[in-house]
Amino acid sequence: MNPTAEEPVRLVMAGFGNRARTYGDYLLRVAGGDASVGAVQVAAVVEPNVFRLQAALEAFSLPPASGFETWEQFLAASSGDGLRPDLQGIRAAVVATPDHLHYGITLSALGQGYHVLLEKPIAQTYRECLDIAQAARERGLIVGICHPLRYHPFFVKFRELARDEARIGHIVSISYAENIGLDRMTHAFVRGLWRNREGSNTLLVSKCCHDIDYLVWLTGSSASTVQSVGGLSLFRPEWAPEANSGAERCLDCPMERECPYSSVELYLRRRKWLRHFDLPAGFGDGDIRRVLRDTPFGKCVYRVGDNDVWDHQAVQVALHNGVEIRLAVNGVTGVEGRRIHVMGSKGELWGDEHSIRFECYPTAALPAGEREREWHFPALADAPGHAGADYAIVEDFLKGVRAALAGDRAAALPLCDISHSMEAYRIAFLEVET
Ligand SMILES: NC(=O)c1ccc[n+]([C@@H]2O[C@H](COP(=O)([O-])OP(=O)(O)OC[C@H]3O[C@@H](n4cnc5c(N)ncnc54)[C@H](O)[C@@H]3O)[C@@H](O)[C@H]2O)c1
Repeated sequence: MNPTAEEPVRLVMAGFGNRARTYGDYLLRVAGGDASVGAVQVAAVVEPNVFRLQAALEAFSLPPASGFETWEQFLAASSGDGLRPDLQGIRAAVVATPDHLHYGITLSALGQGYHVLLEKPIAQTYRECLDIAQAARERGLIVGICHPLRYHPFFVKFRELARDEARIGHIVSISYAENIGLDRMTHAFVRGLWRNREGSNTLLVSKCCHDIDYLVWLTGSSASTVQSVGGLSLFRPEWAPEANSGAERCLDCPMERECPYSSVELYLRRRKWLRHFDLPAGFGDGDIRRVLRDTPFGKCVYRVGDNDVWDHQAVQVALHNGVEIRLAVNGVTGVEGRRIHVMGSKGELWGDEHSIRFECYPTAALPAGEREREWHFPALADAPGHAGADYAIVEDFLKGVRAALAGDRAAALPLCDISHSMEAYRIAFLEVET
C-alpha cells in the first residue's frame, strides 16, 4: 500500500560515501516531516565499508540488522519469502556507489518497484543508460539523476539570461571550459576512484556528463555531430622528472617539495580531502602517512600504474538548432572551475561560477552606459552541497516520488528525471554520428 501524505516515504541507501553523506544530511533534516516532501525514513543501508556502514546506522538511528554489506544480502531480506517486517514498504533507493555498480543495482532496485535517485554518471555505456531509462519507463518509476547544475543558483540564473532573446538574440555558439585543477585532477582522476575506465568512466563522462546535460538543457536542442580529441599526456612514467629517481611514492621522492602534484603536500601538509580516508577520530600525521604509504593516494602521479583516464579532452558539438558548443575539459590547470561564454546575435554572456557579465553589441540607438551588466553571487563560494543544489535534487526527487505514489503522473517527473538527460549521455558517450 502507498504511504499516505502523513506517512514517511521509506528508502534504502546503497553506498554511504562522500556523496551519500551529503544526501543523508538532507534526509535527516526532513526526516520528521517537511512542507514540500513530507516525512522520509531511511529504512536500510547497504555499504561494504564497515566504518561507513556504522556511521550511517548511527546517523539514521538504525539497529545493526538494518545494515547490509551487499545489495544481494539486502534483497534477500527485503523481498519474496524472506521479506522482514522492518523492511516492508520501502519505496525508493538512493544509489551512490562507484560508477561500475550503478547499472546492476539500479536495474535491480527498479525490479523491486523502487523509485531511484541515482548518482551521475548513469552507467558505463550508453546502452546501459538506455536499459535503465527503458526499465523506468516500463514500470512507471522515477529515476532521478544527480546533476547538480540543474539546481545550482548560478547555473540556473545563467541559463535564464542566456535564453533571454531580448538580450542575447539567438545563440550562435558556446565556449565552455571545465578546469578541473591539479588537486582535484590528481585526487580523483590520477590516483583516485575515477583513474581507471574499467571501474568508472572516461574523463568526459565522469567529469562532464552534468556539464553536457546543462548545455543540452540550456540550448533545448540535440546533437547532430560530435567531434572529440584528447589523451593522457602527462601522467605517464616517461614524464617523471629524472630527479624523482624512480620513487614510486611521494613519501620516498627526493624532489617531493618541488613537485606540484605531491600527495604529501596535498594531504599531509594541506590536509585536503581527508574525509575520504576513513581516518580514526583524533587522527594524526602517522595515520595520514599510512594512507600515503598503503593506498594509491600516495603514489607518484607518473607511476600510478593503472590510470588510463585522459587528462585533457576537447569536444565540439553541432546542435540541430544551429548552435555550436566547444567544450574543453582541462585536467592540468592551476585554476579550478567552469568558464562559460555564450555568443548570441545581439550580445554575449560570460560566467565563472561566481559572476556573470553581459555585454550587448553596440548600436547607434543604445547609449554606451547601457550596454553592460553584471551579476555577482558572493554567497555561493562556501555554500555547502554545491551551493544547496545537492539538497534541491533530493527534494525534487522526493516530491516526484510523493506525486507518483499519489497517482499524479503529470506532477511526478522531477527536473532531474533520467528522461531529460539521455541526450547528454548520447553525446558524452560519443554515440552521435561524427
Ligand atoms: N553529482 C556529483 O556532483 C558527483 C560528485 C562526485 C561523485 N559523484 C558520483 O557519486 C558516486 C559516488 O561517489 P563518492 O564520491 O560518494 O564515492 P565514495 O567512494 O566516497 O562512495 C562510494 C561508496 O560506495 C560504497 N560501495 C562500494 N561497493 C558497494 C556495493 N557493492 N554496494 C553498496 N555500496 C558500495 C563504497 O564503500 C563507498 O563508501 C560515483 O558514481 C561518482 O561518480 C557525483
